[in-house]
Amino acid sequence: MGMLEGKTALITGGARGQGRAHALTCAREGADVVLVDITDPVATVPYETATAQDMEQTVKEVEAHDRRALAVTGDVRSQADLDAAVERGVGEFGKIDILIANAGIWGLKPLWEMDEATWSEMLDINLSGVFRSVRAVTPHMMERGTGSIVITSSINGLEPAQNYVHYVSAKHGLIGLMKNVALELAPYGVRANAISPGAIDTPMTDHQTAYDMFAGHEGGTREERYEGAYGFHALKGAGFLPAQAIADTALYLNSDLAAAVTGVVIPVDAGHMVLPGMNPAPAR
Ligand SMILES: NC(=O)c1ccc[n+]([C@@H]2O[C@H](COP(=O)([O-])OP(=O)(O)OC[C@H]3O[C@@H](n4cnc5c(N)ncnc54)[C@H](O)[C@@H]3O)[C@@H](O)[C@H]2O)c1
Repeated sequence: MGMLEGKTALITGGARGQGRAHALTCAREGADVVLVDITDPVATVPYETATAQDMEQTVKEVEAHDRRALAVTGDVRSQADLDAAVERGVGEFGKIDILIANAGIWGLKPLWEMDEATWSEMLDINLSGVFRSVRAVTPHMMERGTGSIVITSSINGLEPAQNYVHYVSAKHGLIGLMKNVALELAPYGVRANAISPGAIDTPMTDHQTAYDMFAGHEGGTREERYEGAYGFHALKGAGFLPAQAIADTALYLNSDLAAAVTGVVIPVDAGHMVLPGMNPAPAR
């Protein structure tokens, strides 16, 4: 019997990357899934977000596990989209037991070049989008007196990073959001926890802006990106981590194994957070 047998999971950003790994892991463990993702590009992001083909592929792979997948085109910037996804999910599968609030974007800009539009879009998707996702499932989970919410933060929810104050602010905000959700929903039997991934091998980190960042210079290559990830982690052999590492942790949090776990943040970062800091370019 699977660890999530008979459950339903709603996954935002479910078309690809970590979202797809979550979907396939839930399905493998016996859950049906509701997948929410956008198909339009996001203006301030330096790479493509998911496509309809990505979503089709995830649905196909879920069905190969003999589970059902409901694909919903929706934007976490819209409460109406998320409420509709929950309504459709409950209509189709009878209930939603699990929310994996995973949808997110990333980009680079120095603090002093951060324009209002870039800042606002990041906060709207990466922080408010998770709030809206939680809000969409909350009445249903409260009524049923059970539920598990997993929020994808980042190690940038625990420490700063050069040139992404908007992302860092949103991801720190998610830790506070998660703790409040855990506090307020505990009396209703609903748990909430967060995962803080290190460097994960997904489309979010597989484009020129990311190559340059991991290489430490403009014109970085994909090979330099792979090399750079080793310096990001502490554990032997840990370059970019597979999305499965995050899906495995969400599986634990959403399963009965974590029945007494709520309000915690689990870094899945191959030891990144224990690396002692060094200033690579001290200003004298
Ligand atoms: N990849 C990493 O190294 C890394 C590290 C730490 C945290 N994270 C976080 O993990 C989560 C998953 O990212 P990923 O690595 O799988 O990247 P990804 O870009 O492959 O996946 C993100 C998904 O979110 C979707 N999305 C973006 N904006 C949306 C919106 N407005 N509404 C609905 N869906 C939207 C995208 O279309 C995409 O399918 C994100 O929250 C990200 O910030 C990633």
